[in-house]
Amino acid sequence: MSELNVKFHAKQLEIFTSKARFKVVAAGRRGGKTFLSMWTLILKGLESTDKDVLYVAPTLGMAKSIMWGTIKDAAHSVTLAISESELSITLVNGIKIHLKGADKPDSLRGVGYRYIVLDEYATMKPATWEMILRPTLADVKGDALFIGTPEGKNHFHNIWQDAHDTDDWEAFQFNSTDNPLIDSEEIEHAKQTMSTQNFRQEFEASFQTFSGGIFEEDWVKVGEEPAQGSYVVAVDPAGFESVGRGATGSKLKLDETAIAVVKITGDEWYVRDIYHGRWNIKETASRILQAAMDVHATTVGIEKGSLKNAIMPYLEDEMRSKGRWINITSVTHGGKKKTERITWALQGRLEHGKITIREADWNYEFVSQLMDFPSPQTHDDLIDSLAFIDQVSVADFAQSIELDDYEYLDEHSGY
Ligand SMILES: Nc1ncnc2c1ncn2[C@@H]1O[C@H](COP(=O)(O)OP(=O)(O)OP(=O)(O)O)[C@@H](O)[C@H]1O
Ligand SMILES: [Mg+2]
Repeated sequence: MSELNVKFHAKQLEIFTSKARFKVVAAGRRGGKTFLSMWTLILKGLESTDKDVLYVAPTLGMAKSIMWGTIKDAAHSVTLAISESELSITLVNGIKIHLKGADKPDSLRGVGYRYIVLDEYATMKPATWEMILRPTLADVKGDALFIGTPEGKNHFHNIWQDAHDTDDWEAFQFNSTDNPLIDSEEIEHAKQTMSTQNFRQEFEASFQTFSGGIFEEDWVKVGEEPAQGSYVVAVDPAGFESVGRGATGSKLKLDETAIAVVKITGDEWYVRDIYHGRWNIKETASRILQAAMDVHATTVGIEKGSLKNAIMPYLEDEMRSKGRWINITSVTHGGKKKTERITWALQGRLEHGKITIREADWNYEFVSQLMDFPSPQTHDDLIDSLAFIDQVSVADFAQSIELDDYEYLDEHSGY
């Protein structure tokens, strides 16, 4: 047999070498979905000893335009015959690769296949798989690859979600930038010109929906710092252990500490910064103090609990060595669920344009977290720290009342 020279990029290779019978791949535009599908078909076809393999695109026209030309070239050295009328390639072992369209369901029925690729699955009718293709794999115990760019939370999302915890199934996800051949400038340009939601769907294979979430993207206003107002800081601390790697070698998804720095003018918030990262305890304390000193904030609210208790001695050390004393208060969950608390603190304010953010590099992460909220799979540290500002501003106010009371009492006691 002739040599085939296939070089998959890392993500494609991970998918190709997985032992799962059914693989569901959500990937960004230009990430290399069709390239992976094509070589998988050729290699599975060459491996097969009995049944043919099948490529299905949403329409027959798409199958032709996406796959036909390139697969003929790629399989050239292992091809015995080509049928232009059938859109099929007979490989050197006698096995055929068929190209078909989901718009012609009758053409998909009947024959058993060793392997089926469903390209751009998000835009196919779910019945294509459920009613027509699944039965054709059953008798030969054939395998399948579902691949596409997400289109919101439709049938593709369902099958991708289910694949996470079904035997024989595996789910994958990769970004456009996982394809090393893609021009990063082109992606950067798209990021600048598309809405965050669109960009995340198309390039990062995100399944978020375009409506029905708690927050909407166009509520986020970018603007200039108001002249009046005073700064407060709120901190949502994360654990301080260093970042490790999971058993699969993937980076562990750990919470970050987030420090929100907000100027409050009446009922308006100007979000100057949300610092976020994983730092050791000393660095966390030093960053909190620095964030407050930078804007002359007098009050910092830190989420009450063991993490705050752990930071406090370090923060006191920092204040002592810098000669700067800042009022540290506790902010709390107040018995509310996190989802509720964040929604209460931010939804109305954002919707009514009461929150303006400074244009900065954390904006993208911030908007992403807002859009994904309240999904349990994603981070919300940035928006959580911002939601705590609600309590710091109240605390700041309460404190000034206390101070007044105190002076009042002092007067009476003749001090
Ligand atoms: N492993 C690889 N080696 C060489 N070229 C690759 C590889 N993977 C992808 N490419 C090239 O990158 C480009 C995009 O790949 P492909 O068309 O497979 O992406 P896609 O995710 O199907 O894109 P679309 O979203 O437009 O359908 C193509 O020119 C393809 O030939
Ligand atoms: Mg493609």
